[in-house]
Amino acid sequence: MAATQPPRRHIAECASTNDLARAWAVDASHPAPHLALVTADFQTRGRGRRGRVWEATPGESALMSFILRSPVALADAWQLGFVAALSVADALKNDFGLEPRLKWPNDVLVDGNKVAGVLVEIVSASSAGTAIVGIGLNVNQSKFSDGESFLHPPTSLRLATGQEWGVESVIQSIASVLAGRVTEWEAQGFAPVLTAWRQTLATGVALRRGVHTAFLNDIADDGSAHVRLEDGTFARWASVEEEEGANRAR
Ligand code: BTN
Repeated sequence: MAATQPPRRHIAECASTNDLARAWAVDASHPAPHLALVTADFQTRGRGRRGRVWEATPGESALMSFILRSPVALADAWQLGFVAALSVADALKNDFGLEPRLKWPNDVLVDGNKVAGVLVEIVSASSAGTAIVGIGLNVNQSKFSDGESFLHPPTSLRLATGQEWGVESVIQSIASVLAGRVTEWEAQGFAPVLTAWRQTLATGVALRRGVHTAFLNDIADDGSAHVRLEDGTFARWASVEEEEGANRAR
């Protein structure tokens, strides 16, 4: 028997699916349950990490926000970004024949280019245990606008595989994997996620922080990156400190 799908709301256009998910999460009369999903064909104010803009052409991207009500300390909520990026990588590998790599902290790369990003937002301190996990994945774009220097330029599933894909099939694939990974994380903690991340790590990929460039070497138990600096020495970069030097997320 097929597993019951969590509730989902789909909209043609919105500012940000993370905003709709947040509103649903705090809706007193019909609050979203665990793993409820909001998707959209287009976002007018999609956002990425560190205040960047997430651009997506209408109907060519998977734009999705999960509402998670995991009984996990707020202090551990950063782990969800790792869970989500890993889920995307698993889905791309299992269902789309790709060999994605994970770039610290939450990006999914294919052939060194960024195909997906993750934005985790905590709903509020008073709703501890509720988080919004937003995922943006480029599906059918055949080109991206020039004029920006990206450390990891954008790519799409179409560019990576040479064929078009149904956005819905991508959403279904990610939703299914993510439900399993979240359940595993709730039961077993961060260790299995970390192990899988290390197996999928984009080792050696360049990271930038301010004027400094470093190369990803490993991930620590606390989610920080172990990096090799340009002078050959090693350092720990704590999460959220990395900077790509471009003001667009994609
Ligand atoms: C990043 O790489 O900086 C994260 C990008 C996250 C984009 C997704 S698209 C769906 C959800 N809604 C948003 O406004 N952002 C996330």
